[in-house]
Amino acid sequence: MKKVRKAVFPVAGLGTRFLPATKAIPKEMLTVVDKPVIQYVVDEAREAGVEHFIFVTGRNKAVIEDHFDVQFELYDTLAQRGKGDQLSRLQQLQPSPGQTSFTRQQVPLGLGHAVWCARELVGDEPFALLLPDMIMQSRKSCLKAMVELYEETGNNIIAVQECDPAETHKYGIVGRGEETHTGFRVTEMVEKPKPGTAPSNLYINGRYILQPEIFKILESQERGAGNEIQLTDAMLKLGKQQPFYGYKYDGRTFDCGSPEGFVEANVAFALWRSDMNENMSEVIRTLLDEMHPQRQRSTG
Ligand code: G1P
Repeated sequence: MKKVRKAVFPVAGLGTRFLPATKAIPKEMLTVVDKPVIQYVVDEAREAGVEHFIFVTGRNKAVIEDHFDVQFELYDTLAQRGKGDQLSRLQQLQPSPGQTSFTRQQVPLGLGHAVWCARELVGDEPFALLLPDMIMQSRKSCLKAMVELYEETGNNIIAVQECDPAETHKYGIVGRGEETHTGFRVTEMVEKPKPGTAPSNLYINGRYILQPEIFKILESQERGAGNEIQLTDAMLKLGKQQPFYGYKYDGRTFDCGSPEGFVEANVAFALWRSDMNENMSEVIRTLLDEMHPQRQRSTG
């Protein structure tokens, strides 16, 4: 079985849900605490054993490439000023030369098209796909758990979580088939079904391990929901040739493409950090007390 060595990050989206913040800054570069959103997703891939990071970008996204490059003047200045901690943190996050590739989507035809744009860079091997809007928080990362599962089952794996049944029209939804000791067989995949018509309330949360045969299908995939070339439609076709397994992720997922999810991620990641937890908890409690004076702070 081939290892999952490569990961694809589709980062060409315009970020219209987040204007005006994203007028000049890519949404993937907005910061959650002190790291850009894209860094969380790349770190997750690295932790899962990924060795090559493939970004499908678009116009106005050049700063993402700069972010993953060596900043010689900065590194040198930090070294000279004795800021070794900051320097080593930057160096730890730094991909090695040759570990990143960038290609442009050129036309905004949807997620399926963005993934297809990575076909030459991925080649004939399985790959991870991480949607950078979604960042996750758990002790073991979502992709790491999926890679472990993949090493047992092979084939294709999609991470899912439960959503409010009234919100199925926002996501790709899967049907749950027979249980396996590692997850379940995926029976159906539908992109953005209307509430009441969805096969379940298990939504695709933005992490996939896919076989390269998906590219051949994407090449001729017709437009689907939202008049876009949908990855979910292509996966449904691939599912007729190869098994798809569902992995039910039980950590937290934040949709950083929306202001609400982004703010929630900032609060959650600040509270998660041991150097910030105490102060941030106090700040949040004080703000809530001031805004809702009738709310009694529980003591003890
Ligand atoms: C995409 C996928 C969808 C998935 C979602 C997760 O939709 O097409 O299947 O559930 O990401 O965020 P988008 O958010 O790009 O509309």
